[in-house]
Amino acid sequence: MQHDKVLILDFGSQYTQLIARRVRELNIYSEIHPFNKIPTNIDDYKAVILSGSPFSVRGDEALHPDLSDIRAKKPLLAVCYGAQYLAHFSGGNVAPSNTREYGRANLSYIKESEAFFKGISEGSQVWMSHSDTIKELPTNGELLASTHDVQNAAYKINRETTFAIQFHPEVYHSKDGKQLLENFLIGIANVTPDWTPNAFVEETVEDLKAKIGNDKVVLGLSGGVDSSVAAILLHKAIGKNLYCIFVNNGLLRKNEFESVLKQYEGMGLNVKGVDASARFLDALAGESDPEKKRKAIGRAFIEVFDDEAHLIEDVTWLAQGTIYPDVIESVSATGGPSATIKSHHNVGGLPDFMKLKIVEPLKALFKDEVRRVGASMGMNKELLGRHPFPGPGLAIRILGDITAEKVRILQEVDAIFINGLKEWDLYDKVWQAGAMLLPVNSVGVMGDERTYEKCVALRAVESTDGMTADWVNLPYEFLQKTSNDIINKVKGVNRVVYDISSKPPATIEWE
Ligand code: XMP
Repeated sequence: MQHDKVLILDFGSQYTQLIARRVRELNIYSEIHPFNKIPTNIDDYKAVILSGSPFSVRGDEALHPDLSDIRAKKPLLAVCYGAQYLAHFSGGNVAPSNTREYGRANLSYIKESEAFFKGISEGSQVWMSHSDTIKELPTNGELLASTHDVQNAAYKINRETTFAIQFHPEVYHSKDGKQLLENFLIGIANVTPDWTPNAFVEETVEDLKAKIGNDKVVLGLSGGVDSSVAAILLHKAIGKNLYCIFVNNGLLRKNEFESVLKQYEGMGLNVKGVDASARFLDALAGESDPEKKRKAIGRAFIEVFDDEAHLIEDVTWLAQGTIYPDVIESVSATGGPSATIKSHHNVGGLPDFMKLKIVEPLKALFKDEVRRVGASMGMNKELLGRHPFPGPGLAIRILGDITAEKVRILQEVDAIFINGLKEWDLYDKVWQAGAMLLPVNSVGVMGDERTYEKCVALRAVESTDGMTADWVNLPYEFLQKTSNDIINKVKGVNRVVYDISSKPPATIEWE
């Protein structure tokens, strides 16, 4: 079954992915492509959206694609930079605004008779983020809405299905943003909203059956949401021909290997648990550089996985839980390639020598969609709601070199913290949480004795995708109880601190 598709042309805005997600929340499939790589099969898309951008249309570096295959031929919605772009290059005028327009505003004038504003009334709150402003509309432009500070906040181009808005409908603070996208996509562009999790599952399972036939597939399970949902989809398609491998690298949470393995078996998966803790600890011995630790873990994983995959006779496919944010080609706001901040070993996959064909059933989905697909297949809520956990596990939460004893200490601390969050009903309110073992000993007193022991840091963050994050304001009573429990129960720890840094400038992990 074919679904209507929406093309989002990315000019490098920090909100581009949000546009795609909002569109998909309407059960409409959307794809992001860079502004300078417009797909050649443009007829496959029912409507086009232009994103915002950190650039100015007035600068020499203005991003200036040729839209002649799109303008007046397809329904077009231009957001922020997109709206300025249409104005600036089509007979209008864009100038620096006197004040930088950032934050909430209210629509003070709306042409309510327009289908574009159906169900949206004057006063509706919108989110602005721009420093240029549209002074004059382009040729054939007609004003549709203003705000207190922005005269040309929305316009259309007569004799085209082209609409342009200065504000960001994709940002939650634009209260009627979703309604506006619905008005444009469903009401005006006639897009059919039939891209649901159930439809995705049905079609993906059929595709996988056709693609894989009777071949065998190997998949590395991590205990996380993505690989688990990928496994269940494949299992539906090819049953026992899916061979799952779950490696214990010795850096998982306390008891995680055993309990997650049991869950997988309960789901009917053909899964082999491989305890390679000793091999990983050997590979890490004496290493304290964070990137070298990551690389050592990556190498050890490939070796273990390769050994295990070779035991499966005639396996020809490797399945991966890659998701959409890993494959979106992004437009860099600085013009250059975006810097690799940390080498995430699980991005980029396994090396060629495995000579397996790759299948990635979740490649088109955002994380929240992966969860929805998992839920529609009846997967366990607890598994689907698990916090993200880094591939290198506790190794990047133990600052400095790794020993079995340090892993044991951190597992105990982490278990008290995470179980506490669950008991206090806080776990689902936090995007990710964990504990760090610091390479610091400090003085304490316990009973009459002076101690000189380890310090741990607790970290809990709110985020949508891990790119930016805020620390969570956990209740003092909870922190107090958790700190007491940790110091009383975990031998070797006499001090607990709570990390109150946001990302940026800090990162979520400490290494
Ligand atoms: P940072 O520390 O970069 O983390 O703010 C952002 C998100 O990425 C996870 N993370 C990793 N995941 N391998 C992974 O699979 C890694 O090497 C790695 N480093 C960080 C981190 O847990 C957070 O969710």
